[in-house]
Amino acid sequence: MNSSPPDMPGIAGIAAALGPLAARFDVDVVDECDSTNSQLLARAEAGAPSGTVLVARHQTAGRGRRGRTWHSASGDSLTFSLLWRFPAACPMWGLSLAAGVAVARALEATGVAGIRLKWPNDLLRDGRKLGGILVELVPSSRWTAVVGIGLNRRLPEAMPPEVAELAAALGPEPPADALLARLLAELLGTFEAFAQAGFPTVREAWLARNAHAGAMVRVLSDFEPALEGRFIDVDGEGALRVAVAGQIRRLISGEVSLRPVTGDRA
Ligand code: BTN
Repeated sequence: MNSSPPDMPGIAGIAAALGPLAARFDVDVVDECDSTNSQLLARAEAGAPSGTVLVARHQTAGRGRRGRTWHSASGDSLTFSLLWRFPAACPMWGLSLAAGVAVARALEATGVAGIRLKWPNDLLRDGRKLGGILVELVPSSRWTAVVGIGLNRRLPEAMPPEVAELAAALGPEPPADALLARLLAELLGTFEAFAQAGFPTVREAWLARNAHAGAMVRVLSDFEPALEGRFIDVDGEGALRVAVAGQIRRLISGEVSLRPVTGDRA
């Protein structure tokens, strides 16, 4: 039952929890918007600085990967986006995987155990989806990214059973302000390292949390027929490497979804 009042993030509480790091961010919290990603893409085009953050208590048109809708009822999710500008020399491949590592690190630092990453950038807990990440590059600048993150705080009562079966929630702890501050701090540290040398700076950290290491997986692509193979690893650009019938196939982030193949005993 969702009977307790939702613990909602607020600007003052986030700033207090960030401490000196508050100077690195420009945080805005709104009750409602269509999509924090859409709003920040517009603000980025208008010149908003790196470190601009938009938190929404409710999104009316939240967006997920591959054109999907991201549903979240007010108070049930933590939904926010971060605008980050990277240097022109930065290799941007694998940025969404790097964001996943940052979120996992933040959750672990606040006492949430058992976080796994599903390629390219879902967050799992107990094999169920805890949250998702949508990275969009600003059309006019390949080096400006809007990183949108949605985490389930609790599962809405009205959720269809087939969705509830696949979803996980964080629960009331940690408090929203402290959690957001920790998320921003980890994103800052991870992106600063990424800006220096790209995905290799977080590759080992990603692989250490890989939900499907060595497993048989089915890869669904927007552009190619589905394929099944054994998950080998992700390479230095964040691309998925799968062994299919003795050959290694390389799949680029953003093209595919991935499902474990049931009955695999590997
Ligand atoms: C996915 O799993 O498909 C990615 C979901 C990303 C959802 C977040 S919520 C905050 C930000 N605003 C959006 O419209 N989407 C992202």
